Amino acid sequence: MCGIVGYTGSGRAVDFVLAGLEKLEYRGYDSAGIAYLDGGELRIVRAVGRVDDLRKKIPAEAARAHCAIGHTRWATHGRPTEINAHPHCDNKGRFAVVHNGIIENYAKLRTELEHQGCRFVSETDTEVAAHLIAKMHETMKDFPRAVERAIAVIEGSFAFAVLSTEHPGAIVATRRGSPLVAGFGRGEMLVASDALPIVPTTPDVFYLQDDQVIEVQAERIEMGGKPVQPSERIRWTAEDAERGGYEHFMLKEIYEQSGALRKLASKLIADPGTAGDPGTFPAFHLNGAPLSKDYLRGVSRVVVVAQGTSYHAGMIARNMIERTARVPVQVEYGSDFRYRSPIIDPSVLVLGISQSGETADTLGAVRLAKERGCKTLAVLNVQGSTMARESDGVVLMHVGPEIGVASTKAFTGQIAALYVFAIHFGILRGTLSAPEARRRVDDLLQVSIRVDEALAQNDHIKQVALKYKDAEHALYLGRGTGFPLALEGALKLKEVSYIHAEGIDAAEMKHGPIALIDEKMPVFVLALQGRRYDKIVSNIQEVKARGGRVIAIASHDDRAIEARVDDVIRVHDDRGIVNSIVCAIPLQLIAYHIAVALGRDVDKPRNLAKSVTVE
Ligand code: M6R
Repeated sequence: MCGIVGYTGSGRAVDFVLAGLEKLEYRGYDSAGIAYLDGGELRIVRAVGRVDDLRKKIPAEAARAHCAIGHTRWATHGRPTEINAHPHCDNKGRFAVVHNGIIENYAKLRTELEHQGCRFVSETDTEVAAHLIAKMHETMKDFPRAVERAIAVIEGSFAFAVLSTEHPGAIVATRRGSPLVAGFGRGEMLVASDALPIVPTTPDVFYLQDDQVIEVQAERIEMGGKPVQPSERIRWTAEDAERGGYEHFMLKEIYEQSGALRKLASKLIADPGTAGDPGTFPAFHLNGAPLSKDYLRGVSRVVVVAQGTSYHAGMIARNMIERTARVPVQVEYGSDFRYRSPIIDPSVLVLGISQSGETADTLGAVRLAKERGCKTLAVLNVQGSTMARESDGVVLMHVGPEIGVASTKAFTGQIAALYVFAIHFGILRGTLSAPEARRRVDDLLQVSIRVDEALAQNDHIKQVALKYKDAEHALYLGRGTGFPLALEGALKLKEVSYIHAEGIDAAEMKHGPIALIDEKMPVFVLALQGRRYDKIVSNIQEVKARGGRVIAIASHDDRAIEARVDDVIRVHDDRGIVNSIVCAIPLQLIAYHIAVALGRDVDKPRNLAKSVTVE
């Protein structure tokens, strides 16, 4: 939610910041703004809309600036107007502030500041930070200290970057709850909400911890007067985060899945085990999950906390872990779990699933679990994220940066990473024999091939999808692991196409939703040939009997289904849990093609942002 970039150095600061903001637009894109110093004067340019709209308003003189901060917004306090766009500044125009997060006590602070004579021009919470920092600076004349004093009275979550006419060439940055990372170039330094704007300049970064305040200058970064060194080196390149010839990031990321899953397998599977030898177990690289054998054996229950697509991956993980490790698994929205006074104790393992590692609700649930003495394990894509740092263990998916707001490769990466963890867990708990464990690993090693086969059907999937593009509503049905897939298929369709869609456990149809069926209703059915196949066929018949149009995602060898449905999309059915990965491909492509046909902004759907860092 909202993206921040700051640059100071020998280069053209405004160009760096604008390029960085474009990379962060997935975090919010209703308005954008920039502040820079020009001959000692603070200049602020803001625009409603995209960074491109802002770019058009930047005057030529801005090219002279060597220090700038910028912001792309996802509105929380105040409508997306130019006046509410960041940066915000104090009344004397000496301090400009960009902010990601929510200042919870802003109403109280605003009243106090108004009593002290500050004049507010926007409806935002951020403006209080600009006035506060200016007030603090009046007494101490020390830039980082003034910011430190200001955040001491601010409640809520924030990442701030601040620019001042009093300290040309310096940016002061800090965070609490919202992410912020600094990059170390040669004679140029950056700060940003994530590493995307930094990687084209340098892979060397420092992830700020809560309440750390840094002063960024062209040649050095300091904290408390001492130099800060890079804490990590980013392993992916700037090209990984480009569209690479695809029309949209979403399509690129859908196509990247087979490669990403190969990479994930090579990173997480150390040894698949020797076929035919009943004694050899597969081995995994799960160093990031330093939860000992003794600990894992004693786990009484697993609680998964996640939101959105990651929650759906968690539902699939429940089946995997229960089957392989025979431990009860409970799947929770972090947003609900954290406020429910949950029943957990130190024998409960809390598994946070998140692409970004920054989702406020999931993070809140993980923190609560830690307070209650539970061990926490995070399954993540973003290496240096807050959840990575705060969890006891981390399993990284290694699927590369996901830019499209609709999660695709992170979903299949989550399923695969959780599958690896489930096998590991089952081996340690003695609930999985060596041949069984090896069979599961083999399934995972095959999955990229199956994903490629599914992707090869893109033309057919597109043809089918376009038949249903004018529907106003759609249903997705599944049973067992088909149910979370149905939820995910519906989520994908609604978020990118704006067609109302619902994912339903097919067993629930007769309990109400079947009333929705008429001849206008497309019903996408996950109809692979597992234990519940006959029941799914009955559901299909019930829908057809009421005039609904059925599109089946069916097994490659299911010939009988053709006569029962309107359209069939086939995937190779290995009758294993990794089928979920393969089925995700057509669901993603259906949503993508319908959205493109309807002229939607696929990578940046309305009202959404990639990382939901506020509650
Ligand atoms: O970064 P996270 O995985 O924690 O994000 C959770 C959800 O916000 C995310 O999956 C969201 O639902 C996606 N837009 C779905 O495509």
